[in-house]
Order: sequence, then structure tokens, then C-alpha cells
Amino acid sequence: MKASSLSFFAAVIAVLVGMSWGIVMAISQDHSAMPAHAHLNLLGWVSLFLFGIFYRLHPALDVTRTALMQVCVWAIGTVSLTVGVAMLHAGNKGGEPFAGIGSFVLLADMLLFGWLVVRYELRGGLRGVAIMTPAE
Ligand code: HEM
Repeated sequence: MKASSLSFFAAVIAVLVGMSWGIVMAISQDHSAMPAHAHLNLLGWVSLFLFGIFYRLHPALDVTRTALMQVCVWAIGTVSLTVGVAMLHAGNKGGEPFAGIGSFVLLADMLLFGWLVVRYELRGGLRGVAIMTPAE
């Protein structure tokens, strides 16, 4: 599977769960899970969808194992952080390792994504310069 496809699928699952959770919070008038809901939507829906767009814009990268792994790790990190934050805000200290490990996993994964962005954008940028030079 392409990294972009996995990103889009995972993003849609995250937002469906996140929106349902939001509706439950609104109906019950108990907003205590709000930080977990917000993280699930922003890490799951927004970030994953943005990764998907970036990978779709770079077809050579989209089919690599590195990109697929980056998306998988992000999805796992998002679940871990969301569960941890939800447990902590429900008063359960057992959520600490999930939130803590999830946050470092996500940071490391974002560093990997940043490195991919720099590598592939520089490559595309240099190609652009090479194409433009003869016309000038
Ligand atoms: C059916 C859709 C949704 C419902 C019913 C819903 C519901 C809620 C509720 C009840 C709160 C708590 C508000 C408060 O206590 O002040 C909240 C907070 C929040 N939601 Fe949602 N939400 C939905 C979708 C989304 C989506 C798609 C995103 C992000 C892309 C999102 C991001 C956030 C954020 C960032 C907060 C925290 C806002 C703050 O700090 O005041 N929500 N949402």
C-alpha cells in the first residue's frame, strides 16, 4: 500500500472516532476528555491527512517503506498519546507511560518526516533549477 493511501484511510478513521467523541462530550456536557479529543483530531485527522498530501505530491517517496513506516508509527503514536491523555484527564495515572512514550514516538517520527521533506524538496528544487537554467 502507498503511504498516502494509508495516511488518508487512517485520517478518516481518526476523524470519525474524534467527531463521535466530540458529539458524546457535547451531549453528556462532560468536556473532561477535551484534550484527548483535540489531540486525536489534530494528530490523527489533520496531520495524517497533510502527510498523505505531501506523499501524494512525491510519487517516488510515496512507494517507499520509509514513508509507509513513518505513517504507521504516527498512527500508533497518536493512539498511544490519545489514550494516555484521556486516562490522565479521567484521573488515571496509568495513562502517563502511554502519553509519555506516545509523545516521544511522535516527536521522533516528525523528525523523520522533516528529514524526508528536506531531502525530497531539495531534490525537486534542484531539478527545478536545472530545468530553468537553459531557458534563461
Ligand atoms: C462532530 C464534530 C465535533 C464535535 C461535536 C466536537 C466537540 C467538541 C467539544 C464539545 C469540545 C470541548 C469544548 C470546550 O470544552 O471548550 C471540543 C474541543 C475541541 N475540539 Fe472538537 N468537536 C468536533 C470535531 C473536531 C475536529 C474535526 C477538530 C480538529 C480538526 C476538533 C478540535 C478540537 C479542539 C482543538 C478542541 C479544544 C478547543 C479548546 O481548547 O478550547 N474538534 N470539541
